Amino acid sequence: MGKTIVVTGAGGFIGGHLVARMLERGFHVRAADIKPLDEWYQVHRHAENYAGPGTPTKLGGDCRDFKVCRAICRGASEVYQLAADMGGMGFIENNKALCMLSVLTNTHMILAAQEAGVDRFFYASSACVYNADKQKDPNIVALKEADAYPGLPEDGYGWEKLFSERMCRHFREDFGISARVARFHNVYGPYGTWEGGREKAPAAICRKVIAAKVSGKHEIEIWGDGTQTRSFMFIEDCLKGIDLITHSEILEPINLGSSELVSINQLVDIAEEIAGVKLNRSYKLDAPRGVAGRNSDNTKIRGYLGWEPDTRLRDGMEKTYRWIHDQFTAKYTAKTAHKSSISTFTKGSHPIPGDGFNPESKNMKTWKQGIPAGWGEAPAKSAKGKKAPAKRGAKSKRPVAKRR
Ligand code: NAD
Ligand code: GDD
Repeated sequence: MGKTIVVTGAGGFIGGHLVARMLERGFHVRAADIKPLDEWYQVHRHAENYAGPGTPTKLGGDCRDFKVCRAICRGASEVYQLAADMGGMGFIENNKALCMLSVLTNTHMILAAQEAGVDRFFYASSACVYNADKQKDPNIVALKEADAYPGLPEDGYGWEKLFSERMCRHFREDFGISARVARFHNVYGPYGTWEGGREKAPAAICRKVIAAKVSGKHEIEIWGDGTQTRSFMFIEDCLKGIDLITHSEILEPINLGSSELVSINQLVDIAEEIAGVKLNRSYKLDAPRGVAGRNSDNTKIRGYLGWEPDTRLRDGMEKTYRWIHDQFTAKYTAKTAHKSSISTFTKGSHPIPGDGFNPESKNMKTWKQGIPAGWGEAPAKSAKGKKAPAKRGAKSKRPVAKRR
């Protein structure tokens, strides 16, 4: 048996593809994800799968739990830390606290990888680390690596990424771990989230176009005014880049993204062309929109590797559209197609002064997700006559701000 490779977030989009790639190469793979196995996008039976409740391994796959991280890293050569509670703009704008909790996973995974003495630790960062002031114009100058500082990243999710990048750097400098960091720019492709609220623009637009076609209602709702710009990287390029960067001597966080800039209107044009339809467009101006423009400056990656992501958006979208089409038609009919666009997050959040609540946050009751599995409260039973100890997380007598 060859090297042991650890992939976290393996039930997700990029992780599922990465596990497949590693198995093809004959490696022994440990794949971990907090989700139950039946919710993984790809389940690879030849991998050692650590999944959420109700699935094979007793330990589970929750990488906020150091016990899990330690077990999966033991004896491993390479660790790919992809686990994160994240999604497209709809999710990250409205779930900043949940996004930030991913630092627990990142911290425990790098500690466990360091302890295991791995050859390489790969961390998936994001273009969301870039300074917001440099992304105010749709005709953006592509972002180069230095543009992450002075720090003004995407609120919540971007801070989590920037902090964790820094942690990789300091673990490398102070403890000698061979950490590599790539800043992914919006990745798309088959076997990823396409509905439910966490989907990103390429999948969301494919889904909306398919819904319009299947239902015969030739309309599409676009978040924002459609002039905002992005570059989108096809999954195959992402996998190649992860491999090249992990096995390179690139010590600084580096862009891994396409430099083919399009507006969201142009993205819709592409999906319409693939579908062979023309739709009436409406624009939802109060929807989550994120930055006005974002593109990847690939000078560094070309300089280091002589390569950059180069799949044409039209080609990658064709493959993505076909896969989502199959998923969609397996689930919806002409009569039910409209239900696919009932997204959980349709409004952008607004900065809240003081201690108010974000009324669009749908996860008020799930903050306890941040408490690692198995760290639940001790049973409240007490010996007769003795006062039961106060429960962790028990209601405090302090007044709590009311939800607005
Ligand atoms: P994804 O949401 O499809 O996959 C992430 C997976 O991590 C999910 O399956 C989730 O269940 C899992 N996870 C969350 N918390 C966990 C925990 N505590 N323990 C174990 N697993 C946990 O996302 P993706 O698109 O595959 O992204 C992979 C990585 O790349 C993430 O770190 C993400 O932030 C980063 N990234 C992705 C993009 C993109 O466009 N897809 C862009 C920038 C950065
Ligand atoms: N998600 C989504 N759904 N976005 C839409 C839609 C829709 O139906 N319609 C238009 N958009 C617009 C959004 O308003 C946004 O301006 C743009 O498309 C891109 O949205 P996303 O794909 O959701 O996110 P992003 O590009 O702003 O950020 C993503 O990429 C980062 C890396 O570059 C996120 O996925 C981040 O998590 C990721 O790190």
